[in-house]
Amino acid sequence: MLHIDIRRNPAPKAKPEDETKLGFGKYYTDHMFIMDYEEGTGWHDARIVPFENFSMTPAALVYHYGMCIFEGMKAYRRPDGAVQLFRPDENASRMKRSAERMCMPPFPEEYFLEAVQTLVALDADWVPSEPGTTLYIRPTLICNHDDLSMHALDRFMFFIILSPVGSYYTGGLQPVRIKVEEEASRCVRGGTGFAKCGGNYAGSFQATQQAAREGYSQVLWLDGATKQYVEEVGSNNIMFKIGGKIVTPALGDTVLPGITRKSSIEMLKGWGYEVEERLLPVAELMEHIEAENVEEVFGVGTAAIITPVGTLGFGGKDYEFNGGKIGETTQRLYDELVGLQFGQRPDPYGWTVRIGE
Ligand code: COI
Repeated sequence: MLHIDIRRNPAPKAKPEDETKLGFGKYYTDHMFIMDYEEGTGWHDARIVPFENFSMTPAALVYHYGMCIFEGMKAYRRPDGAVQLFRPDENASRMKRSAERMCMPPFPEEYFLEAVQTLVALDADWVPSEPGTTLYIRPTLICNHDDLSMHALDRFMFFIILSPVGSYYTGGLQPVRIKVEEEASRCVRGGTGFAKCGGNYAGSFQATQQAAREGYSQVLWLDGATKQYVEEVGSNNIMFKIGGKIVTPALGDTVLPGITRKSSIEMLKGWGYEVEERLLPVAELMEHIEAENVEEVFGVGTAAIITPVGTLGFGGKDYEFNGGKIGETTQRLYDELVGLQFGQRPDPYGWTVRIGE
């Protein structure tokens, strides 16, 4: 068991007054979890302290070489007032895989769950109750070693911060507009695409900002080498309902292994849908769109939950699905997944974990 030193915040902040206007990532709770790592010593000094600024050498490698990985997960307020997590073991194991790719010391999976549980329990008052709101959990691992030579990676810090959030896309469950990015690349084979590292996101801002200027919420990335295959959206994975079947890009080392993606596939298969995880050529997708075979398009992710895509921009033209409205499969997946996450529906999969149990 992890010994966590707790220093309570002597001056707790006022909570956001209007839970219907939380936005995403604007407010932070009263505490954060921190643990340090040094080569030779290993992980030590697990502590919960007031949420405050870090003091860190400007030479820390996180600032120079982007040595940073993170996770995204949520705590949900149940109808009985208790708080629960969704598949936290999946976040712990994905973070381990990200760490291995980035030459960072994996944060032990058993510590991960205990750290999240203890911090969320301490700041449980911050879990909002307004429909559709959650407490977003951001576990992060950075290198704070001050050796710019790139020869040594000896000191790291793991921390968790919490943020009460509303919906990630500003329109809530309104269908979003996504642009197929035909020029810029997110990653290539052999790169870091499957790891949840900060650099993957940093490199995507330029294309995303350009798409925003053109009226789109996000970009749909194609594979970096050939620009022929569909991969993922900037902040979530993507699924298409084509002729009744669900098609989603297969995982490889260029696609983030989303936990909502994995859960959606399991749920959809359980309801009898055929789900194809495969290479999806953008040319094939466009043919299906032209033939009006694409019935629904939706994004799946922790922040995005299940987000209907109403319009896909490609080659300067906009293509609309399902009359720009949310489709029946998208709606069902949203209702059942969200119902389970919030404890409003039974959890036959055993995916939810109550805080304090
Ligand atoms: C998440 O869904 O948790 C993410 O990390 C995506 C991020 C861009 C908000």
